[in-house]
Amino acid sequence: MEQELIDRIKAEVVWEFERKGPPEGFPAFHDIPIGRYVDDEFFKLEREHLWNRVWVMAGRVEDLPEPGDYITFDDLGPPVVIVRGRDREVRAFYNTCRHRGAPVVRSQRGSARNLSCQYHGWTYDLDRGQLVSVPDERDFVGLCRENRSLGRIACEVWQGWIFVNQDPSAPTLHESFGSALHEMEELSGSELQVVSKHSQTIGCNWKVTAEAFLEVYHFRHIHARGAAGRDTLLDSRGATMGLLANGCSRMVTPYSPSAAAASGMSDWSDWRHTVSPGFADIPSVNDMFRCTSSAYSLFPNLVTPVGGDGFPFLLFWPLDKRTTRLDWIFYAPKDWEGDDIPERWRRRTDTFNLIMEEDRRNMEPMQRSLESPGTSGIPINYQERRIWHLHEQIDRTIGVERIPEHLRVQQVLEPYVEKTQSGLVAI
Ligand code: FES
Ligand SMILES: [Fe+2]
Repeated sequence: MEQELIDRIKAEVVWEFERKGPPEGFPAFHDIPIGRYVDDEFFKLEREHLWNRVWVMAGRVEDLPEPGDYITFDDLGPPVVIVRGRDREVRAFYNTCRHRGAPVVRSQRGSARNLSCQYHGWTYDLDRGQLVSVPDERDFVGLCRENRSLGRIACEVWQGWIFVNQDPSAPTLHESFGSALHEMEELSGSELQVVSKHSQTIGCNWKVTAEAFLEVYHFRHIHARGAAGRDTLLDSRGATMGLLANGCSRMVTPYSPSAAAASGMSDWSDWRHTVSPGFADIPSVNDMFRCTSSAYSLFPNLVTPVGGDGFPFLLFWPLDKRTTRLDWIFYAPKDWEGDDIPERWRRRTDTFNLIMEEDRRNMEPMQRSLESPGTSGIPINYQERRIWHLHEQIDRTIGVERIPEHLRVQQVLEPYVEKTQSGLVAI
């Protein structure tokens, strides 16, 4: 990340601490319509026009190191197989046999010379998913193999993470995520590996889960620590939000005085190259990431609070209108052998899991409230504007004109989106 940007963010934190209200002229948001969380109609619009048009993280390249290695990925809904071809490229196909629809591969992970369906043996090549062999082909009248390739979906690898997008005409990953990826490059993702995976199913709409990680307004209320119950790690009054193109965003929150002192900092602004004892460091990570709570959101369903020695990706997968699977996967430079994580990492993930539990306890009752006549709409404040930014992008992705007027959010934040990005395609 450029020093100029880090300096600008630090100045923004100072401004956030001192402001008496939102900046002059900042728009007043109307309430977010409740129907966006509870109506079948809106969930259907998201299914049909959002989830099949967005880039989502589907795995890591370490899971398919050799040609012929594959993993399956079902979190988007339709079953997908991701395979490394003979040319070592990673590609994704619908895991649906073009004969009678059986899954072509059945295990979550494996290796194969070809992709051969277990039902009747139709076989597809690794590189293009082309149908190359059909047992007893004489019995099919007029079968055209060329028209029966596996359905291909877009697939890109960035820093070891595999992203897929069902829309064949989608802008590329970089055109979609732009400067968020540029700023996250210094996390050196290619050097990292999965440390641990956690998952829980939560009884609420996926946006309720996502929104809990797009603001820190709640931090001192549900994540309070210490004897007085008011001591927290972060000082949310200084939090600064970066609205990035296409619904992505950044949030940088300074440490509280007690957390800064515990980290050996003189105050929140004393950003320096702190390294956690006992943890393998990622030397390329900047000092702001090390001395604040910094997080990125990649539209629509990935949030990551980044750090200098490892960090989790949080992913929100809608199972139905009021059920979400929330995954969190830690990545770090792995300096140990085997699958068992060392004690220091166990302690760290245990602490993080406690915070996640505090968030989870809040979410299920919220869904019940959203479905209650006691709620009429959701007012969003200036500090929660990343949530509004998410909703605006949801509407743009679905197509504003497809959304009934009473379920839309107004498009008002464009003037506040950072303009430093190049090579982006507005989605
Ligand atoms: S369903 Fe796959 S070969 Fe018949
Ligand atoms: Fe939280």
